[in-house]
Amino acid sequence: MSTDKSDSTPLQSSAVINEAVQTLHDGGLVAFPTETVYGLGADANNPEAIKKIFAVKGRPSNHPLIVHLAAPDKYDVAQIDWAALLSPWVRDVSEKALLLMNTFWPGPLTLVFQKDKSVLREITGGQDTVAIRAPAHPIAQELLRKFKGGVVAPSANRFGKISPTSAADVHNEFEGELGLMVLDGGDCEIGIESTIIDLSSGDKPILLRPGAITPSEILAKTGIKVYQVGEVKKTDETDSLPRVSGSLLAHYAPTTPLRLYAPGRVLDALSEFPDTKSRVAVAVWDSESSLVLEDHPSIDVEEVIVSSDSTAFASRLYRSLRDLDQQAWDLILFPEPPAGEEWDGVRDRLQRACFGSGPSSSSHVSN
Ligand code: TXA
Ligand code: MG
Repeated sequence: MSTDKSDSTPLQSSAVINEAVQTLHDGGLVAFPTETVYGLGADANNPEAIKKIFAVKGRPSNHPLIVHLAAPDKYDVAQIDWAALLSPWVRDVSEKALLLMNTFWPGPLTLVFQKDKSVLREITGGQDTVAIRAPAHPIAQELLRKFKGGVVAPSANRFGKISPTSAADVHNEFEGELGLMVLDGGDCEIGIESTIIDLSSGDKPILLRPGAITPSEILAKTGIKVYQVGEVKKTDETDSLPRVSGSLLAHYAPTTPLRLYAPGRVLDALSEFPDTKSRVAVAVWDSESSLVLEDHPSIDVEEVIVSSDSTAFASRLYRSLRDLDQQAWDLILFPEPPAGEEWDGVRDRLQRACFGSGPSSSSHVSN
């Protein structure tokens, strides 16, 4: 069910959020907006409800879920006792964890901890760690606060497909799921999933999924160094690094074949796909001049302008991929993101989207 939104501020009324809270208590699923992407939520203490998420998404049951928690009502961010809020879920909270939470929560950062023994195995896929995040979106916050418990929520898309960044995307994704409640919070501001940092394997925080919050920003604001997976020496602890999207090649994938082109090499990219070059959508940086492909009459090319600012690009990425996927192109070309950490999140999503793209994408391993 979707509900009315006002023209300017698409916030749901309290009555609708109360209904969503009741749905969660009753063991149902509620899709809700976060600042990153829309999530498909269930009561984190109800194993049957959690199983529904895996069924609806078509996601293998050993792929762990993130537990979403609320900041307290009328909070002063500086005063929140995150350790107390986490105590039902995690075994212990280190100084580093506290500093990260005090600096970035609520916000687009997920932290992985050693789990408390009470955390359901349906959430963790049988691992001894649990991922937690406090989303900043006001509707997510209100829902979580009123629910008074943890809500597990993967991105509200079918397994391996593009994550939704609007309520309409969620409806399109789960067309057959009659009665699925979708809270409408408008377009997601950040547009790619949260940064995930593993704090569970010793003293070194490890970046498991790049996102809007980068290791440089973390270092600048907290003095904490975050390591790349490859930088941490394999020990008994890190041998058992958790399974994350970072280890999966295909994800976020459109049905139309998607490829990246190197700067100035659109024609090379086209010539690699001779059988699919009849109608091609080419994304072009807004900072660049037009492609001028008129001397290739066999190719019907349409340019789509994309932002050369990494934050603006991220916020529109899934929207663009979804829209292009609806338009029956034979091929979609995107420019390779430039070097630089601020592009890591986008590069990660685009590379996986390419790998998983095409009509047979459902056969790839992904989440
Ligand atoms: O921005 C986000 O994080 C969104 C919104 C809805 O909050 N959620 C999201 O969930 O992206 P999902 O399930 O699509 O991706 C969660 C990722 C998966 O790659 C999963 O493997 C990883 O988090 N993950 C979950 N629990 C984990 C754990 N205990 N250890 C390591 N990775 C974990
Ligand atoms: Mg996902």
